[in-house]
Amino acid sequence: MSSTVKSSLSLEEKKYEFSGHTLNITTFKGASLGVSAYVWGPGLVLCRYFEDEKFNFTGKKVLELGSGTGIVGILAVLLGGDVTMTDRAYVLKQIEYNVSANIPATSRHRSKTRALLWGTDQNNFPTDFDIILGSDIVYSPSQFPGLIQTLLHICNDKTIIYLSSNLDARVGSENFHQEILPKQFNSEVIHTSGGNCIYKVTKKSPRDEH
Ligand SMILES: C[S@@+](CC[C@H](N)C(=O)[O-])C[C@H]1O[C@@H](n2cnc3c(N)ncnc32)[C@H](O)[C@@H]1O
Repeated sequence: MSSTVKSSLSLEEKKYEFSGHTLNITTFKGASLGVSAYVWGPGLVLCRYFEDEKFNFTGKKVLELGSGTGIVGILAVLLGGDVTMTDRAYVLKQIEYNVSANIPATSRHRSKTRALLWGTDQNNFPTDFDIILGSDIVYSPSQFPGLIQTLLHICNDKTIIYLSSNLDARVGSENFHQEILPKQFNSEVIHTSGGNCIYKVTKKSPRDEH
């Protein structure tokens, strides 16, 4: 990994290698983006998991929640997916910058960037996604009800959700994964790395809930 600081713009660029692709990810350090202006460990663990498992997203309609820099969603596009990257509206300029820097023009039609505030905007989105991605999005208990509401709306009974969370570092994450999510979703840990777990999650059918 190498790092370049473009101080006048407060942009910081780092390189990451996954699945034979070099990703140049820029964070907008001077733009008051808070937690969005970092590439977080759970995102890197999820990218490495896609590499190790030789993921191919070709033909898959994918939605990413809380994209931040876009690193996970961008890799999913480079691995063939038709991907909608979402976050709070003020984060989209950072994602779009990274999309422009990393996704060749010939694949750009498979990449979309849209605002999705959990618990508020989900009804603007369709419900036919094959895959939902979320890395390090389980960290703020006040956001959990909106996140569950969003997942319930955007998932159909075949949608597979991959959530990558650091249970050691994030207060409330363990409670979310062990108590809150299982009320309406089936969830299994499919990979661990240090304190990080990747969960494969599906929505329970009404039959499962009895
Ligand atoms: C810790 S960052 C993780 C970013 C990226 N997924 C990664 O792994 O590097 C959490 C992201 O979730 C987004 N987020 C948090 N609460 C949200 C909400 N209520 N609605 C939409 N996005 C939210 C933040 O804006 C931020 O970009």
